[in-house]
Amino acid sequence: MTTNTNSNDRLIVFDTTLRDGEQSPGASMTLEEKVRIGKMLEQMRVDVIEAGFPIASPGDFESVKAVATAVKDSTVCGLARSLDADIERAGEALKPANSGRIHTFIATSPIHMKEKLRMQPDDVLAQAIRAVKKARQYTDNVEFSAEDAGRTEFDFLCRVVEAAIDAGATTINIPDTVGYNIPHQFGDLIRRLIEAVPNADKAVISVHCHNDLGLAVSNSLSSVLNGARQVECTINGLGERAGNASLEEIVMAIRTRHDVFDCHTNIDTSFIVPASRLVSSVTGFPVQPNKAIVGKNAFAHESGIHQDGVLKSRETYEIMRAQDVGWSDNKIVLGKHSGRNALKSRLEEIGIILDNEEALNAAFSRFKDVADRKHEIFDEDLIAIASESQAAL
Ligand code: KIV
Ligand code: ZN
Repeated sequence: MTTNTNSNDRLIVFDTTLRDGEQSPGASMTLEEKVRIGKMLEQMRVDVIEAGFPIASPGDFESVKAVATAVKDSTVCGLARSLDADIERAGEALKPANSGRIHTFIATSPIHMKEKLRMQPDDVLAQAIRAVKKARQYTDNVEFSAEDAGRTEFDFLCRVVEAAIDAGATTINIPDTVGYNIPHQFGDLIRRLIEAVPNADKAVISVHCHNDLGLAVSNSLSSVLNGARQVECTINGLGERAGNASLEEIVMAIRTRHDVFDCHTNIDTSFIVPASRLVSSVTGFPVQPNKAIVGKNAFAHESGIHQDGVLKSRETYEIMRAQDVGWSDNKIVLGKHSGRNALKSRLEEIGIILDNEEALNAAFSRFKDVADRKHEIFDEDLIAIASESQAAL
């Protein structure tokens, strides 16, 4: 790579719903569910899908392999600690991928090196270099993460980043693992790092922000303003503890405020709401009604003054169009008189794809039973109807 990868105008979207998202307590997913979500992310034109942590369990290995087999247009990534066995397992799981990436990491903050790894900084540095070189034996697309970079001593972080790039890393990820940073400080870190590391222009600089202080999206956006060209995020902000930066919020902020951000993503935003619904129905984690972009109130106007304004001109109170993120304008209400096509199309809008006639017939017959009892069928009812009818097949 000879061009400066961090000054171009394309922001790479790296989704880790299937890996960090699944680390959210209670959010585990089956292989089939991961493939469904992976296909949805591919349709949405996510650049990189982190499909799991292959060494973590045989199930995780098989899921990464299945996603790598099913997804052809996005790069599929597998996580590995900086250990030979992890990297070999990730390389094996990614064999079927059209485009595969190994993401290897080691912690670099004083507290993690001393208390968790019980290693000296120079040994951490040596292990990082070795891991990147090992990963390069499987693919030329290697990401290196300095875990807990947000609390790492700056000069040491620069040494590790420079050495990882020299060893062959093509993406360098700077995680705020514990969500400790605040926006101007994290943005500054990214700018200083790009300035201080002599070979920083040979790799894409990425950020991975956690939401412990509710700042994951703000920290990610601040980094983009300071030169980061990959953001790691999840659908609905799912993830370890308080979660990761939310994909929908980052993507729509970049798009809506293109006057401020000198870059753009490749995301087809019309898949945002269907993907949010799919992830929510698979994990059983509801989306809060006032959640930006994907909450059911995100485009609802309750006050008379707002309703009046919107009726005269939408832009009085709306900075985005609901249809652009996949909300349907279609006010069809599902009830006992609705037909199979209306049911099928509403299910698709909320991210539930019934892939054969038998599944649709089963869902339709259950739908008619429920519609006989209820005046109006809500999306929550549809999600239950679809999963019960699939379980009964
Ligand atoms: O939060 C974190 O540091 C991670 C790394 C594995 C990238 O998830
Ligand atoms: Zn993380």
